[in-house]
Amino acid sequence: MTAPSSCVSDAVRSRLSVRAFLPEPVPPALIRDLLAQAARAPSGGNLQPWHIDVLAGGALAALRARMRERLAPGAQPEAPAYDIYPPALPEPWRTRRFAIGEAMYARLGIPREDKAARLRWFARNFDFFGAPLALMCSVDRRMGPPQWSDLGMFLQTLMLLLREHGLDSCAQECWALYPQTVAGFLQWPADRVIFCGMAIGRRDPAHPVNGVRSERAPLDAWARFHGC
Ligand SMILES: Cc1cc2nc3c(=O)[nH]c(=O)nc-3n(C[C@H](O)[C@H](O)[C@H](O)COP(=O)(O)O)c2cc1C
Repeated sequence: MTAPSSCVSDAVRSRLSVRAFLPEPVPPALIRDLLAQAARAPSGGNLQPWHIDVLAGGALAALRARMRERLAPGAQPEAPAYDIYPPALPEPWRTRRFAIGEAMYARLGIPREDKAARLRWFARNFDFFGAPLALMCSVDRRMGPPQWSDLGMFLQTLMLLLREHGLDSCAQECWALYPQTVAGFLQWPADRVIFCGMAIGRRDPAHPVNGVRSERAPLDAWARFHGC
């Protein structure tokens, strides 16, 4: 039996989606090391179905520039890679989604009526919220829900390891709205499909958006205990 560690609990508690970053770079050796460690995440049949593209420096600047073109007024939208949410999101999920959006825009002082300002904020996703490093996370199209879930486990493992090193992150499925741009930019083979992007860096503690604390449904709303 190995000694229990409080590191995981600390990382779980302190992780949150960070949406404003300081410009200080993430050391390339560190990100390589953390990705390699995150690959200890389990996967059904040990398929390890994740594909990760790491972007920083000139490559990241080039993707940002490409996205500025894609988001320019009059530019055509793309067919999303997948439905980010089920159509007509039912309760209780609809309310949860609404609540986190309203909590964020309240922090930012952007009222509901100011659709233009909300859209401008949303577009910051495609600047990775100013992060110095970003990931694009994809899987082979032949993979199904179990393998997409494996990718999710990999990403959570990585996000917790990042916390251990004082780094922050925001997973970003909004990138699934621009699958052709991303695949073309990264020269992916045709059988690859995007799951999400991820912004990585150190949080800007002064930015109000990083003060958002998302709520969680109480345990008894989603867990049932049988024989215990
Ligand atoms: C797979 C995934 C994709 C996400 N995509 C986005 C996104 O595109 N933009 C964004 O601002 N937040 C995104 N988020 C962050 C969620 O909104 C956030 O995890 C949720 O509100 C809970 O907040 P917390 O991460 O601060 O605990 C994503 C999270 C996950 C896990």
